[in-house]
Amino acid sequence: MHPFSNRITKLFSIDYPIVQAGMVWASGWRLASAVSNAGGLGLIGSGSMHPEVLLEHIVKCKSATKKPFGVNVPLLYPDIERHIQIIIDQKVPIVFTSAGNPKTWTPVLKQHGITVVHVISSSKFALKAQEAGCDAVVAEGFEAGGHNGREETTTIVLVPAVCNAVTIPVIAAGGVATGRQMLAAMVLGATGVQLGSRFVASLEASSHQKFKETVINATEGDTMLSMKQLTPVRLIKNKFFHAIQQAEQSCASKEDLIDLLGKGRAKKGMFEGDLDEGELEIGQVSAIIKKIQPAAEIINEIWQEFLSALKQPLQ
Ligand SMILES: Cc1cc2nc3c(=O)[nH]c(=O)nc-3n(C[C@H](O)[C@H](O)[C@H](O)COP(=O)(O)O)c2cc1C
Repeated sequence: MHPFSNRITKLFSIDYPIVQAGMVWASGWRLASAVSNAGGLGLIGSGSMHPEVLLEHIVKCKSATKKPFGVNVPLLYPDIERHIQIIIDQKVPIVFTSAGNPKTWTPVLKQHGITVVHVISSSKFALKAQEAGCDAVVAEGFEAGGHNGREETTTIVLVPAVCNAVTIPVIAAGGVATGRQMLAAMVLGATGVQLGSRFVASLEASSHQKFKETVINATEGDTMLSMKQLTPVRLIKNKFFHAIQQAEQSCASKEDLIDLLGKGRAKKGMFEGDLDEGELEIGQVSAIIKKIQPAAEIINEIWQEFLSALKQPLQ
């Protein structure tokens, strides 16, 4: 029996309305299955995987958990048709899409009985996702790690705005790492939360140990939105960040920025642990993440804190 029930726990058949975000170079089958086994929803981040790697992660995830799990599919992925086909063939029950138009793939996935959630950063895109037939949206605010909306709307503003705009359930993301923050998001109208940064600092995340340590040592102001001209992404302010920043300030062209970015920066930073030359994607909330923990401990801690904050919300 589920200890708690709302539209999100029912939609995904999970115990707690806590989603572990799909994240490039961080969320493979180990993290996704650990989160699902602990009663949340684990997502495999397919954005950094070739199709055959995605297939391997799905197969391993299935053997590591009998609980529901999902795959995050950034819609701009170049080999998107193959990713979608693998997901359908493997009967993955849940897909979170991001970075693209939900109208293209949502009907295809829904035809195969897959629950579809789309990540948005504005009420306008939330409505588009609802019209496309999505079952829920993730409202991701400006604080979030990784790629980010151009509008710079913060979670505390975005969540109630999106809740007013749509009738499907809203999952809050961006700046949530604790049970008290989860309660705050739900008081704003969210039915669940999606956490990225907190799960980067988990034992099961495939991120490099040096990156995990950078995350738990980060303090307020250590991250900033970068590359707004190309595709906005929140990064740790390292050597690579400053190089991009300098180029932008000296009005570098889009082509120059693409050259400077080069290929494989995210892998170099987050997976290979090159803290100077690599891209280190993380959210503002890294400032309050202090420990690398097993994923199950993270879920349990958040849930216990959520319950006690619910009993005594005011301090
Ligand atoms: C290292 C990292 C990689 C990410 N990669 C993806 C991705 O591949 N696809 C996606 O939709 N979101 C991605 N995100 C965003 C997360 O899915 C999530 O919405 C965000 O981390 C929530 O904010 P938080 O970091 O404050 O918890 C990434 C975030 C991080 C920190």
